[in-house]
Amino acid sequence: MTGNTQALLDETKELLVNTYATQPIVLERGEGCYVYDVDGNKYLDFAAGIAVASLGHAAPVMLKALQDQASQLMVAPPSFVTKAKVDCARLLVQNSCFDQIFFTNSGTEAIEACIKTVRKWAYENKSQQCSDIITFHKSFHGRSYGAGSLTEKRNTQPYFAPYVPGVYFAQFNDIESVKKLVTPNVCAIFIEPVQGEGGIMVAEPEFMQGLRKICDENKIVLVFDEVQTGMGRTGRMFAYDHMSIEPDIAAFAKGMGGGFPIGAMAAKKEFAQALTVGSHGSTYAGNPLATAVATAVLREIISPGFIDRVKKTGDYFRSKLEDLQRRSNKITDIRGLGLMIGIDTTIDIKKLPRALQANGLLATQAGDVTLRLTPPLIVTEAQVDEAVAIIEKTLKELT
Ligand SMILES: Cc1ncc(COP(=O)(O)O)c(C=O)c1O
Repeated sequence: MTGNTQALLDETKELLVNTYATQPIVLERGEGCYVYDVDGNKYLDFAAGIAVASLGHAAPVMLKALQDQASQLMVAPPSFVTKAKVDCARLLVQNSCFDQIFFTNSGTEAIEACIKTVRKWAYENKSQQCSDIITFHKSFHGRSYGAGSLTEKRNTQPYFAPYVPGVYFAQFNDIESVKKLVTPNVCAIFIEPVQGEGGIMVAEPEFMQGLRKICDENKIVLVFDEVQTGMGRTGRMFAYDHMSIEPDIAAFAKGMGGGFPIGAMAAKKEFAQALTVGSHGSTYAGNPLATAVATAVLREIISPGFIDRVKKTGDYFRSKLEDLQRRSNKITDIRGLGLMIGIDTTIDIKKLPRALQANGLLATQAGDVTLRLTPPLIVTEAQVDEAVAIIEKTLKELT
């Protein structure tokens, strides 16, 4: 570690609010699937900003979009139309089951927009008491009061109470536990099709179809949080594409901007129209720079063969990890969809990402015991081989 690294780590400790378990390296630049720290060390980046850098680092199409749009128009008041905003919304609508878009700056804000939409829709279309929401144990929807109230972690953070009332937690993949919570006051069910922070838990298609049926029979809005799963990450454009159903509303972010902060709520018209003039808004959301970059990212993702390659590389990665599991008794489970993969090991998860990092691979923790692997969607099979070799070496080193 150079003096430079140590000085920056020290200043971080002093100057920044200490909400993260700070990593011992300082990242400086990235290119494709690799990042470099200030000491010149190279890392294969299978964290990708936690499933964000969908096109890798310094993607030429993103740089061009950034440069072109920044030199033309970076910001406009949200009530003004810009071509960038309309282009981005058109792409999202044309490539999803949704009719209208509300742009946001993050996944959390996309969830906030969803909460406001379902509550207003239910207030006007069901009853003024219909404001309850069903969500799931091990869920993660964000850290604001609304999104945080839908997040299981609230139960371990009593010091932030009172939370938003009327939120009930069911068991993921257990349809009976959902049925028990349905009352005339439930306006919506919020679910991640693959729970990310909860440990890469994949929803079973039959369970999701059961949720759709419950929602249809009880006039409940079905909201998918596709912040982590959306935009090709799972080997389909959206995770709902794996499940033979359509949600009424979805939240997007992360891979949508490929690293530029942007998110969106996408909704079917009936629900989108609940948000009327003055009922919601944001200064930055949908600004020309963010939407121009997201448009460039989306154009890449929907280009012929891109998502098929994500699926193929995801399958390859999975098979290589399964081979490794047969060689190593330290891997206890492998889960995921596409390039959103979680592995459970016998190694303390507090140690594993740091040890991988020391061997040149960045990956993140998900849930209590899971190592999360979310490389850029452009990752090659050769880079997957490189990552698996580092994982194997690291597992051998750790006891
Ligand atoms: C499923 C899900 N929803 C919402 C969020 C919150 O998104 P953001 O951190 O962009 O606010 C995250 C972030 O990890 C997420 O994984």
